[in-house]
Amino acid sequence: MNNSSWRDRLRALPVFGENLPGFATDAAPSDPIALFTEWLAFAIDDGVSQPHAMTVATANADAVASARTVILKDLTPDGLWFSTMTNSRKGQDLAANPTAALLFYWREQGRQVRLSGGVVVGDRAVAEADFLQRSIEARAVAIAGQQSAVLTGREQFDSAVEDARAILEFKPDYVPDAWTAYQVRPTTVEFWQATRDRDQIRLRYSRADDGWTQELLWP
Ligand SMILES: Cc1cc2nc3c(=O)[nH]c(=O)nc-3n(C[C@H](O)[C@H](O)[C@H](O)COP(=O)(O)O)c2cc1C
Repeated sequence: MNNSSWRDRLRALPVFGENLPGFATDAAPSDPIALFTEWLAFAIDDGVSQPHAMTVATANADAVASARTVILKDLTPDGLWFSTMTNSRKGQDLAANPTAALLFYWREQGRQVRLSGGVVVGDRAVAEADFLQRSIEARAVAIAGQQSAVLTGREQFDSAVEDARAILEFKPDYVPDAWTAYQVRPTTVEFWQATRDRDQIRLRYSRADDGWTQELLWP
């Protein structure tokens, strides 16, 4: 298949669904976390697929960016939480450069939310409680190896997971030191809503000294 037929195939794909929700920016709350909470609750209730899956973008000390999907673990008035290993690529990026950009795309609703801000390490108790809620298998895999390191082969993986299962049998509440809960504290949040006429509505919040400012953006 040559490049031009790929162009035609891609162009023929639909982008947004039929039943897009509205976005009354005039009625938007003054706090973007309140609006995010409304949008997330609606995405869950409306049956959006994996509404809690978000892209997390980080950059290392040389400003080389990388992004990956991570699960949103909690939402508190000052930020959004995810959990991962400190020794992973993202963990190393965050140690060198504790800022991140988050992206949610709720395709069934034509909605996108972009957040960015500083990242702080949460209390150890949060990471421990989070880890112990994971399935035994997911815990064994996390204990087995160093996330993002090069794997020499399937045998290395199987044998390390087997050893990790033995650790968990002996000590079921074991939590690896590297398992960490991170909180992203947004300083900018942008809400984007598609409409049927290919128009788009964009509302950006920026943190100010005494609250948040709001601006509409050109699509
Ligand atoms: C839907 C989905 C959810 C994921 N959730 C997590 C998660 O909560 N924590 C995590 O460390 N990795 C999660 N991953 C795996 C990451 O995308 C990534 O492969 C891994 O964290 C290593 O990333 P890094 O090498 O950039 O550190 C998830 C992947 C997918 C597709």
